[in-house]
Amino acid sequence: MLRVVSVLGSPRARGNSAILAEHFCKTARELGADVRTYVLNDLNYRGCQACMACKTELDKCVLEDDLTEVLESVANTDVLLMASPVYYGEVSSQLKGFIDRTFSYLVPDFPSNPRPSRLTPGKKLVFIQAQGQPDASQFADIFPRYSNFFRWHGFTDAYLIRACGVMDQGDVEKRRDVLDLAGDTARTVCENS
Ligand SMILES: Cc1cc2nc3c(=O)[nH]c(=O)nc-3n(C[C@H](O)[C@H](O)[C@H](O)COP(=O)(O)O)c2cc1C
Repeated sequence: MLRVVSVLGSPRARGNSAILAEHFCKTARELGADVRTYVLNDLNYRGCQACMACKTELDKCVLEDDLTEVLESVANTDVLLMASPVYYGEVSSQLKGFIDRTFSYLVPDFPSNPRPSRLTPGKKLVFIQAQGQPDASQFADIFPRYSNFFRWHGFTDAYLIRACGVMDQGDVEKRRDVLDLAGDTARTVCENS
């Protein structure tokens, strides 16, 4: 069974990025995937402490908090869905805190190692981005930057579902094109896995 881990980065439970993530997950479930969702805003965790324990004495993050389970689930998943609003041109701080903790997946000699990550390669990344700004040329850098980093972790295929010009909670419900893209992306990911 295909495993999907959905990591939601918005503090809005019914926000635009969460709605798109739910559309993706609903289709994935209908196609038989096992979907697990984490709402980062409900969890207690710290950002990476740069202690380097994951490079010197452990093969995982030394911190024990609510992200411990999330990091383990992501390590064992086939598909990682990360959903975020754009805040000041970046992912939310909730999602960034999680992303920084994935530093623990990297092996000690990651800069020179052809297999820099401890994760099994062949995973798929789905990235959902919701932004108030309607101009799609704005904040177009976020997905390429993070998909490049996640390629180190073996996420070879990366898919973007993006809603521009959605400001208020639920605005994306009126955007049939993006909602359809979420379902279509789930079909592409599930049927090619
Ligand atoms: C603190 C904060 C910063 C924001 N910064 C940006 C921004 O830099 N660019 C943008 O287009 N929208 C920005 N927005 C608008 C959100 O991206 C927009 O409301 C989005 O739909 C939120 O997604 P969500 O409903 O999934 O939380 C910001 C909103 C907040 C609350």
